[in-house]
Amino acid sequence: MTYGTNVTMTNEDGLALITVNRPQALNALNCDTLEELRAAVLAADKDPAVRVIIITGAGAKAFVAGADIAQMRGLSPLEGRDMTILGQEVFAAIENLAKPVIAAINGFALGGGCELAMACDIRVAAATAKFGQPEVNLGIIPGFGGTQRLSRLIGKGRAKYCIFTGRMMSAQEAYQLGLADKVVEPDELLPVCREIAATIMSKAPVAVMMAKKAINHGLDMDLGSAVAYEAEAYTTCFATADRVEGMTAFLEKRPAAFAGK
Ligand code: HXC
Repeated sequence: MTYGTNVTMTNEDGLALITVNRPQALNALNCDTLEELRAAVLAADKDPAVRVIIITGAGAKAFVAGADIAQMRGLSPLEGRDMTILGQEVFAAIENLAKPVIAAINGFALGGGCELAMACDIRVAAATAKFGQPEVNLGIIPGFGGTQRLSRLIGKGRAKYCIFTGRMMSAQEAYQLGLADKVVEPDELLPVCREIAATIMSKAPVAVMMAKKAINHGLDMDLGSAVAYEAEAYTTCFATADRVEGMTAFLEKRPAAFAGK
């Protein structure tokens, strides 16, 4: 499977902009769209010209309004399980990309859309965006990692409140809960995401990559093992030419010129 129909990607100066493109269905994720999304993110991660990835939704109304209910309705339990596992695999792939991923949340981020946003590293929301895990309205639970990522992101009690009630939240409330990292005016959404991406791109690439690995993998470990893992990730950074350049540039009072080595 390749991308280009339900998921598009453009590459601008080191930035891959990936758009879920089914605006007629509020960018709902059917299985083909999930496969295209996987193909796009893996291609961006492999492309040496890409440093940061932004994921957004087409149109002004939705980031992603969830898994495709029309497709899910006709599935047998085992087919439903296959779709859940497909979504979980794609979102795990996003979470584990070497490169940083920013979710530009331009509208509804519901169900699988909220779960997609949570698989990204940083979530920037338009003030008009809406978040929620409304699956209980459909007789199901979040199945693309939402029960787990939401609990880890905002805490067990708050995650249960959101998931048991299926309530929709404003961007501001999502920000207060720690589900959104920044809220901006809608027309500022992509400019702000590009600015964040440019800031990240100005840093030492291996250091950013190792920080992502240490945070992601460390959170799955006990504290002692996680801190030991951090020491190894730190050592990898210490072995880079960029580490020497960064420290030398500081002492010489000049901007660092990182080479990603
Ligand atoms: C399929 C969807 C959809 C979805 C919207 N549409 N969400 N189609 N799957 N998740 C379609 C509508 O059917 C409609 O198609 C068109 O998009 C526009 O939507 P409207 O409902 O007419 O818009 P509006 O009245 O503005 O309401 C917007 C909305 C509502 C509040 C976002 O669409 C909504 O509640 N959507 C469902 C949200 C949801 O329950 N998400 C969780 C899904 S379960 P037509 O053809 O009529 O124009 C999930 C599980 C993940 O994500 C794990 C699975 C394994």
